[in-house]
Amino acid sequence: MKILGIETSCDETALALVEASGGLARPRFKILKNLVASQIKIHRPFGGVVPNLAKREHLKNLPRLFKKLCHANRGLPKLDLIAVTVGPGLEPALWAGIGFAKELAKKYKKPLVGANHLEGHLYSFLLPTKSKKQKIKSKNLFPAIATIVSGGHTILLRMESFTKWKKLGETRDDAAGEAFDKVARLLDLPYPGGPEIEKLAQRGNSEAINFPRPMIHDKNYDFSFSGLKTSVLYYLRDHKKISRAGDVAASFQKAAVDVLTAKTVRATKEFGAKSIMLSGGVATNKLLRKNLANESKKLGLKFFVSDFKYNLDNAAMIATAGYMAYLRGKKYRLSANGGLGI
Ligand code: KG4
Ligand code: ZN
Repeated sequence: MKILGIETSCDETALALVEASGGLARPRFKILKNLVASQIKIHRPFGGVVPNLAKREHLKNLPRLFKKLCHANRGLPKLDLIAVTVGPGLEPALWAGIGFAKELAKKYKKPLVGANHLEGHLYSFLLPTKSKKQKIKSKNLFPAIATIVSGGHTILLRMESFTKWKKLGETRDDAAGEAFDKVARLLDLPYPGGPEIEKLAQRGNSEAINFPRPMIHDKNYDFSFSGLKTSVLYYLRDHKKISRAGDVAASFQKAAVDVLTAKTVRATKEFGAKSIMLSGGVATNKLLRKNLANESKKLGLKFFVSDFKYNLDNAAMIATAGYMAYLRGKKYRLSANGGLGI
C-alpha cells in the first residue's frame, strides 16, 4: 500500500509518501519521500508556537510541499490511502491539514483516514533506520514498554502487541519537552529549548547541582516536571552571580533523564518486558538514548528508537499510524481533536 501522510499538529508542516506491507503481524515500511517545512524561525520571536500563525503557515506550505512531492515523482504518485493527523495538537493547525487532506481525497478519489499523532510517535520505531540494526520480529518484542516523550506529552505504555496497549502513566503537569523548553527560557535560550539545553549541557557538569528527581521513587508510572523547572528557577534566582549556565543545563538534563530512565526500567521489570521503544521529540536527546540503550543492554532487552528526524514531528510516522489504524479498523473522526489521547 502506498500511503500519503499529512502532519500539521504543531509547527512542522510535513508530507510523506510511505510504502507499507506485511499487515498487522509483520508491518514493514519504506519511506519513499519525507518532506518537512519547519516554522521554528517564525515562532521563535514569540518564545513558543502561536496557533493562528502556525495555521497560516500550514495553509501556505501544504500545496507547496505537495507540488514538490509530485514533482519528485514526475506526477501524482500512485496512492492507496491518505492519512492525516486529527489530534492531539493545536486545533487551528490540525484543521489546516484535515481540510487539505479532504480536498486531495475528493479530487483524486482516494480513501482518507484520520491518524493519532501519539500513535505516530509510538510507531516511529517501525520506520527503517540508517544502522539497520533494528530487526523487528513481533514474537520476541512483546510485552514491551513504550516511552513517548514530546513537547506536549510524557506517557508510558505497556504494549501487548502492535495494536494492543495500556497506558501505565503520564505527566501530571508539564511534559518532558515542555520542561526543557521552559528551562531554556529561564536560561535565555531560544525556542525550541531541548536541543539548546543539550548543546549547553556539553559544556557543564551534570553533578554540579543536585536538582530534584520528582516522583522517581513513587510506586506509579506518572511523572511531574513542573517542580523540577521551579527548582531551576529558584536556583538561578539565588545564585545569580556564581551560576554557570552549562552546569545548570547539564544538571537539569541529568535530573529529567534520570526520572525517565528509572521509570521506564522499573516498568520493564514489573511487566516482564522484552523490549523498550522510545519516541517523541525528547527521544533525540543523546543522554536519554544512551542511558536507555545501556539499561536495556544490562537487562538483556531490545531497545528501539528511530533515527533523529523521525523522533521529531514528521509525516512518515503519520502514514505509519494511518496504516495501522486502517488495518485494525480504528476510525478517527475527520475533525480536529486537540486533546485526543492514546
Ligand atoms: O515530538 P515533537 O517534535 O513535537 C511534539 O509532538 O510536541 O517534540 C518537540 C519537543 C520540544 O519540547 C523540544 O524542546 C523537545 O521535543 N526536544 C528535545 C530535544 N530535541 C527536541 N528535548 C531534549 N533534548 C533534545 N535534544
Ligand atoms: Zn510530536
